[in-house]
Amino acid sequence: MTLPIVVYGSPILRNRSEALPAGEVDTEVVKLAGDMFDTMYAAEGVGLAAPQIGRNIRLFVIDISPWADDEPELKDFKRTFINPEIYWSSEETDYYNEGCLSLPGINEDVLRPVTIKMRYLDERYTPHDEEFTGRAARVIQHEYDHLEGAVFTDRLTPLRRSLLKRKLEGFAKGKYFAAYRTK
Ligand code: NI
Repeated sequence: MTLPIVVYGSPILRNRSEALPAGEVDTEVVKLAGDMFDTMYAAEGVGLAAPQIGRNIRLFVIDISPWADDEPELKDFKRTFINPEIYWSSEETDYYNEGCLSLPGINEDVLRPVTIKMRYLDERYTPHDEEFTGRAARVIQHEYDHLEGAVFTDRLTPLRRSLLKRKLEGFAKGKYFAAYRTK
């Protein structure tokens, strides 16, 4: 089932999301993750965080398996991340062009660490402690920001942000185009 996507300007995207109880598998959470994948695919995104469908919980989904064409190790990279915690980031950084389903029409080069280490639970609530690098680390950090109440434009220089001011203010007034359901 697809869900409407929350657009920039909503306070939901600015809250720090709450951890989920980390005991047994929560079927409601598993169902929600499935709906988030449906929503993400319908909107042609590669990642989606729970605040983007209106829930302030620490959950995001990513599918970058289509990128396996030029990065074979991403072949099966369709994952659910519950209660993720990035506990290490590399000093090495690079720029990569990002967009966000909550900010339709905006794409900007964003500076981020190249490599991260993260603990999280998967959809079976199995704990993992893993290092990610390159584009996987990139998408994870973008989604992780959503759980912290941040969006990628927060990471731009003040000059870049001021150039986007009009567009950003337009979201709350409904001045944007999205080819998917939004709220
Ligand atoms: Ni996003």
